[in-house]
Amino acid sequence: MRTIFILLMLCSVPMPMAAQPQAAVNLMPIPTNLRMGTGRLAIDPSFSVAISANSDPRLQRAVERFLNDLRRQTGMLPVNVRVTDASKATLVIRAEHANKEVLALGEDESYSLDVTSSSAKLEAPTTLGALHGLQTFLQLVATTTDGFAVPALSIQDKPRFPWRGLLIDVGRHFIPLDVLKRNLDGMAAVKLNVLHWHLSENQGFRVESKKFPKLHEMGSDGLFYTQDEIRDLIAYAQERGIRVMPEFDMPGHSTAWFVGYPELASAPGPYQIERKWGVFDPAMDPTQERTYKFLDDFIGEMAGLFPDQYFHIGGDEVNGKQWEANPKIQEFKRSHGIKNNEDLQAYFNKRVQEIVSKHGKTMVGWDEILRPDLPKNIVVQSWRGQESLAAAAKQGYRGLLSHGYYVDLMWSAERHYSFDPLGGPGANLTPEEKQRVLGGEACMWGEYVSPENIDSRIWPRTAAIAERLWSPQEVRDVNSMYQRMEKVSRKLDWLGLTHNSGYAPMLRRMAGSDNISALRALADVVEPVKDYSRGELAAAEPTSADPLNRLVDAARPESLAARKFAGQVDQLLSGKADADAKAQIRSLLILWRDNQAKLQPLADQSFLLKEVVPISRDLSSLGSAGLSAMDYLESGQHAPADWATEQRGLVEEAKKPKAQLLLMIAPSIQRLIQASAGQATGSSSNQGDR
Ligand code: ACM
Repeated sequence: MRTIFILLMLCSVPMPMAAQPQAAVNLMPIPTNLRMGTGRLAIDPSFSVAISANSDPRLQRAVERFLNDLRRQTGMLPVNVRVTDASKATLVIRAEHANKEVLALGEDESYSLDVTSSSAKLEAPTTLGALHGLQTFLQLVATTTDGFAVPALSIQDKPRFPWRGLLIDVGRHFIPLDVLKRNLDGMAAVKLNVLHWHLSENQGFRVESKKFPKLHEMGSDGLFYTQDEIRDLIAYAQERGIRVMPEFDMPGHSTAWFVGYPELASAPGPYQIERKWGVFDPAMDPTQERTYKFLDDFIGEMAGLFPDQYFHIGGDEVNGKQWEANPKIQEFKRSHGIKNNEDLQAYFNKRVQEIVSKHGKTMVGWDEILRPDLPKNIVVQSWRGQESLAAAAKQGYRGLLSHGYYVDLMWSAERHYSFDPLGGPGANLTPEEKQRVLGGEACMWGEYVSPENIDSRIWPRTAAIAERLWSPQEVRDVNSMYQRMEKVSRKLDWLGLTHNSGYAPMLRRMAGSDNISALRALADVVEPVKDYSRGELAAAEPTSADPLNRLVDAARPESLAARKFAGQVDQLLSGKADADAKAQIRSLLILWRDNQAKLQPLADQSFLLKEVVPISRDLSSLGSAGLSAMDYLESGQHAPADWATEQRGLVEEAKKPKAQLLLMIAPSIQRLIQASAGQATGSSSNQGDR
């Protein structure tokens, strides 16, 4: 309340959101400029919308969708909120121009939104800006004591970067069209504007090819998109202001191509669809002309199917083993003066770039493709570090940042949020070089995702990345980000995303029971192990046939419950916890201490829960240790040193991954123990990397 009051007092002075310690409105991404007004606009059954100026059909359809979303958010009925004429409408939208039929990089996406207690006005140079403004409006709708309302305010907004993407890997696990569509809705809600569709992998080739039907017939297990489905998805995305860039990874990551067309490979075959994860030997033969003839025909077909200007050819992680083992390829290298495999791949990239360009497209590739002999119009996507992005910009290439935005690594939102396309080495670029940094992309790699859990791996953390790519660079307040991310996460529920709604059904399946409260108490405070350690910790080598139905598949990538507990412990240790706050900590510790006794009967009846008993026991131990530590802290007596040593042993045990899960309250319990023994406690566990 105090924040709102202060904002109201300041309301006559326009101020960038960045200057505020905390946003009073639940917007994500934060707009470039926001000024609070006085009062609020009621969203009630008399609410209506009108479009003045251009009558772009795309905008009209967007308004229909907006009204549908508003109805879902408020529970109002179609007979209520509706389209009317401008003189009577509550919300009047004015967009000067339609955008190109095929959305282009760098179109004007700006908008302004003015809300008073009686009406609202959304203005934008193009339909795209109006689309973004409508999303802002939806995020502003709040429940108040006397009805739904949007606060009076004035916003001028535009993106910091023109390329704000999400990569979805459908090669490793197939993701059906309806799942992609709901994720496009989520992207639009947080103003992301590129779906990077990673369509081919060692484990699957997912596009129908009419020229080379054995690609999808033999390389996909029957799990592919028809060309009609692809056109449908692209149209769906374009309606929402989202470009769709295809990626066909080559010359590596391409085993699935070789099942039907072994002659493309650098070793004879036969080939089978890969079932394991990792980097594999098969690679296209860059020395034979028939490879380029095939790619010319194939890219020609795909260039007709995918209207976007940009065409991603992958280019990552070629281990060169098939090239080394093939005498004909070695002879080609010798006779062409090609010194090593990197140079051979550079030769391949140059040939492919010519083909991509011949079909009217601009080539994009992972940072391995960066070589000065490629034309300057290509785009380099940095995944191995921020250095390659800066290096590309210095050499005159445009680039995208994905290093730091890999959501499959199970990092916290805070950690993703800390990466900036113009941070690190990017900060030292000249203004001209900085212009070449187009933005970035969150990457949802598909080893451990299914249609059931993919939303929970993408959301809500991707909303934090979306803010990094849209909002001013100075917007960095992590606590504000978390508060707003949680609000946005709830709004995404209305769009049909399942990151929240899918959790309990997965837990019920695991338990074989409706009584999941004990399992949920555990699930809420664990996270999947980080980076790529899941594979390393597995008892048997993981494969694409493994069911994704374990606790590690349901647990959230980031435990907001553990994060909140860390904040409560911080408050306690800094002497700022009142009796209520202390009681809350105690009740959590009691819950955890007693949880294993409640979970054991579930584990006794379900094979899926056997593996979580050890971590559940750890949770109980930590609950007990935390309660004892609280007792010592409140008694004013230091805990005995040998007790503290023993408890620290428990904490160390509890920090070890079990069932590929981490118990995220362990560092906070450790701090309580140290404090109770009168030792320094270090900083809170939720600051920085874990
Ligand atoms: C990649 O992660 N290999 C692009």
